[in-house]
Amino acid sequence: MELNKLSLKMGVKSVKKLLVAFLLSLLTLGLASNGLEGETLRSLAEKLGIYVGFASINNFWVLADGSTYMEVAKREFNILTPENHMKWDSIHPERDRYDFSKAERHVKFALENGMVVHGHTLVWHNQLPPWLNKEWTKEELLQVLEEHIKTVVGYFKGKVKIWDVVNEAVSDAGRYRETIWYKVIGPEYIEKAFIWAREADPDATLIYNDYNIETINPKSNFVYQLVKELKEKGVPIDGVGFQMHIDINGINYESFRNNLKRFADLGLKLYITEMDVRIPKNATQEHLQKQAEIYAKIFEICLENPAVEAIQFWGFTDKYSWVPGFFTGYDHALIFDRDYNPKPAYFAIKQVLAKKLEEKLKGK
Ligand code: G3I
Repeated sequence: MELNKLSLKMGVKSVKKLLVAFLLSLLTLGLASNGLEGETLRSLAEKLGIYVGFASINNFWVLADGSTYMEVAKREFNILTPENHMKWDSIHPERDRYDFSKAERHVKFALENGMVVHGHTLVWHNQLPPWLNKEWTKEELLQVLEEHIKTVVGYFKGKVKIWDVVNEAVSDAGRYRETIWYKVIGPEYIEKAFIWAREADPDATLIYNDYNIETINPKSNFVYQLVKELKEKGVPIDGVGFQMHIDINGINYESFRNNLKRFADLGLKLYITEMDVRIPKNATQEHLQKQAEIYAKIFEICLENPAVEAIQFWGFTDKYSWVPGFFTGYDHALIFDRDYNPKPAYFAIKQVLAKKLEEKLKGK
C-alpha cells in the first residue's frame, strides 16, 4: 500500500480513536458524576437492547392517580404485562362469552406508548371462572382449552409479542402440579397449549412461567427437564419466565447465574417476569438499602447473560403491589414508593444499567 494511502488510513484510524475517546469521556463524565438525571430505566434499557417493564394494575385508566401512574409507566418502561385482565376469569367469564374490553385497555396504552405487550396467562390453575368448576371429560376439556387459547391469542395476534402460555404447572416439590388441567387431561396439556398458541400467532414468543425456579432446586430441575423434553420433541416453546418474587434475604446468586446458563444453553430466551423484593412492613433505611442491593445484583447477573430479554417488576409503585395483601408483615416490594418517589432500588438498578451501557460502548 503506497505511503499516502497508509498515512490516510492511519489518520482515519487515529481520528476514529479520538472520537471514541471523546464520546466515552463525555459518557463517563456524565455517568461518573451520577449524570443519570436525563436517563430513565427505559432510555437505558433501549440503548442496551433489552426490555424493562411492569405489570399494569387493574383499571389503571380510571384510578384517581391514573395520570401519574401512566406518566411514570411510559417514562420508565418499554414492556407491560396486564396483572389480571388477561386471565380466564376476566377474559372468558362464561363458556360462550369472551370479554376483551379490559385487556384491550392495557394493550392500547402499551402500543400507544411504544411498549411491548407480554400476555399473562393462557393456562393457569388460579383465577378461573366459575363455569370451569365442573366435571369434564378429557376430550371436552381439551376442546375448551384449545378454543380458549386460539381465541385469545388470535384476538391479540400481532399485538401481544410474548405469551406466558403455561403458568405454574410444577409444584414446589418438583412434580406436576395437580391442577384441573393435569388431573383431567394429563401432562400433555402443556405441549398442546404451546402448539395451539403457535398456530394462533406464529410470530409470538411462547414461554413457560413459574415462581421459585430462579435458583437450582428440585422445582427448577423438574422445569429444566420438562422444557428440555418439550424442545427435543419439537414443541414450539421459545423461552422460560422466572417470576422472581423474593424477599429481603435475596437468593443464592451463583446458583441463579448457573441456572440461567443451563436454560440459555437449551437455546431458550429468558425473562424475569414478575420481580418484587418484599421487606418488613416496618421498613428501615437498612431494609431499603438491602433491597436496592438485591435488585442491583439480580440485574447485574441478568445483564451478563445475552439470553435474558426482559426484566419486569410485578407492578412498580408500592401503592398497588399484591404483596401486603398476600404476605402478612411484608410490604414495600417495588421500586417506587406509594407517592411515586423512586426508592434506593430504582437508583441502584439505573447504575447497573448505566455501567453495562458504558462497558458496551467500550466494546467489553
Ligand atoms: O375482581 C375481583 C373483584 O370483583 C372483587 O371485588 C375483589 C375483592 O374480592 O377481588 C377481585 O379479584 C381479585 C383479583 O386479584 C383482582 O383481579 C382477587 O380477589 C385476588 O385474589 C387477585 O389477586 C391476584 C393474584 O395473582 C391471584 O392469585 C393478584 O392481583 C395478582 O397480582 C397475582 O398475580 C400472580 C400472577 O398472576 C402469577 N404469579 C404470581 C402472582 C402473585 O400471586
